[in-house]
Amino acid sequence: MSDRKPFVGGNWKMNTNRTTGSDLARGVTDGLITVDGVDAAVFPPFPYLLTVRAILRDRGSSVRLGAQDVYHQGEGAFTGEVSMNMLKDCGTQVVLVGHSERRHVIGEKDEFINKKLRGVLENGLEAILCVGETLDERTAGHQDIVTARQVRTGLADIPASLVERLIIAYEPVWAIGTGKTATPEDAQDAHAQIRALINRMYGKDTAQRLRIIYGGSLKPDIAADIFSQKDVDGGLVGGASLNAADFVGLCKAAAGAGRAKP
Ligand code: PGA
Repeated sequence: MSDRKPFVGGNWKMNTNRTTGSDLARGVTDGLITVDGVDAAVFPPFPYLLTVRAILRDRGSSVRLGAQDVYHQGEGAFTGEVSMNMLKDCGTQVVLVGHSERRHVIGEKDEFINKKLRGVLENGLEAILCVGETLDERTAGHQDIVTARQVRTGLADIPASLVERLIIAYEPVWAIGTGKTATPEDAQDAHAQIRALINRMYGKDTAQRLRIIYGGSLKPDIAADIFSQKDVDGGLVGGASLNAADFVGLCKAAAGAGRAKP
């Protein structure tokens, strides 16, 4: 069994409503009751955090409550933004930072993502830093340079003690929501590069403990091959996380892959 417990996150993005989100949360918690060997989290839209939290709490579920984004300031005149304190107040335990859609649709830059990441980790929450190259960057052979820049700049001025609460998600942009997944070998290669970089930045122990998860069109039928790769410690799931059975299937696949690792 690997020292790194697999992690699977369900990023609901801007989907669900109060009724369908509640049904989904109940389906996920019930489906995972007998599943161990995996840390699971759901990331509902902000307005449904409290609703989902109540469902998780009522069922005594170990599924973590996640938020899809955050603003790095504690409070103040930042119209439309949601602070760390608000997320904590709503019971959020883990926050996505730098998701590809924040980078490429909303236009967030590495330096801004670094501020958010520092804020999340300094406030005692867990963070998932999302990195990954676009199709043009991959075609040009620049995928390792791009992900290394995103990791280095994202982690600027963040000490090793805070990296203990970090997960990195490698999500090639061309695989997100497209039905195309990286091959298990390409995913392993990217994850190994990221772990080697963390080794150079923070040392071997931190690099060995860091969970690096894969995201991009994960489905239960193809996930086992990716999760079984040495440096792949679970997944971040978009589309398939909107179906409780698929999400539970992915969690089971990650748990099984974790158990099979030396
Ligand atoms: P997808 O999304 O599974 O729908 O490709 C993954 C993600 O954006 O995290």
